[in-house]
Amino acid sequence: MRIAFFSTQPYDRLFFEQENTSGEFDYQFFETHLGPHIVEIVQDVDAVCVFVNDKVNREVIQTLAGKGVRIIALRCAGFNNVDLNAAKEFGLSVCRVPAYSPEAVAEHTMAMLLTLNRKTHKAYNRVREQNFSLNGLLGFNLYGKTIGVVGTGKIGKAFCKIAQGFGCAVLAFDPYQDDELKDRGVTYVGLDELYGESDIVSLHCPLTPENKHLISSDSLGKMKDGVTLVNTSRGGLIDTLAVIDALKSRKIAGLAIDVYEQEEKLFFKDLSGTIIEDDTIQRLMSFPNVLITAHQAFFTDEALTQIARITLRNLQDIEAGLAPVIPQAQLC
Ligand code: NAI
Repeated sequence: MRIAFFSTQPYDRLFFEQENTSGEFDYQFFETHLGPHIVEIVQDVDAVCVFVNDKVNREVIQTLAGKGVRIIALRCAGFNNVDLNAAKEFGLSVCRVPAYSPEAVAEHTMAMLLTLNRKTHKAYNRVREQNFSLNGLLGFNLYGKTIGVVGTGKIGKAFCKIAQGFGCAVLAFDPYQDDELKDRGVTYVGLDELYGESDIVSLHCPLTPENKHLISSDSLGKMKDGVTLVNTSRGGLIDTLAVIDALKSRKIAGLAIDVYEQEEKLFFKDLSGTIIEDDTIQRLMSFPNVLITAHQAFFTDEALTQIARITLRNLQDIEAGLAPVIPQAQLC
């Protein structure tokens, strides 16, 4: 099977080559994102393999179908960037990697929270400059604090357990409640109560048309003064301009994000020698209490191995006539 990979980095090649032991797959790697501007480059392949910031809209899908492409394989969990209705209309199968390592993302979420709170990133740089002062590095104990977890699927669940390990009380909101979490002492509440009671709010739900800008000036107004907000899910869950206002008014005491609504123009690239034209991320980066990582929560050896393995297995399954992996109920 011939596969064209988009948005590829050296590590994608490495892990997918490692899993192609039988030589069954013939790879083409493109560094560029897939989108309407570049879709004509696709020639003589059975499948395209895309990542979080590729734009697989109706126009792209129609062109792919015309070129005989049969499968869109997402090598990620989220699928908000693919027009699933258009894929169905043009007869393309879509598969994704629903779970590769929830712990990878959950652990990074806690790493961000700890870094933001205890300022280890600043301390590291200070000590390297022989500045051993503690002024400005004050944090707070996580022990005894209340963490509100929005979305208790695979990642949210793993994060709840980690938070409980730190001695936090965990409130959760999800349309589907998890019995194991309830048995472990996680309390499901409505969103407003979660906002009102949580010292820290962490987002772990997928981005859908319904929950775009879930974090808005309205929802921020319901949160505690001095709340810490963490988003390792999808940038579009947050209205960034509203969050900037809340940072300026001190409503939010700390913000940690691994995802950003306009990230496709920035993340996964070395832009250190260029002028960044996105003023919103520049404003975010100017706050001393904002921590940004560039969509790296998934980035562990275990997760990349699983991503490559499951993606190739999905392709084999579809070739063997098994159903695409995304259930119709999740069309959005
Ligand atoms: P999952 O499908 O296992 O769980 C998602 C949960 O969110 C489900 O329990 C669902 O009922 C719930 N949910 C849906 N809409 C909701 C809403 N409006 N409010 C509250 N809960 C809602 O997904 P998983 O594996 O836990 O991943 C969650 C998200 O994490 C993905 O959709 C993706 O956007 C993001 N992600 C980020 C990564 C990163 O590297 N930063 C890597 C992998 C996933």
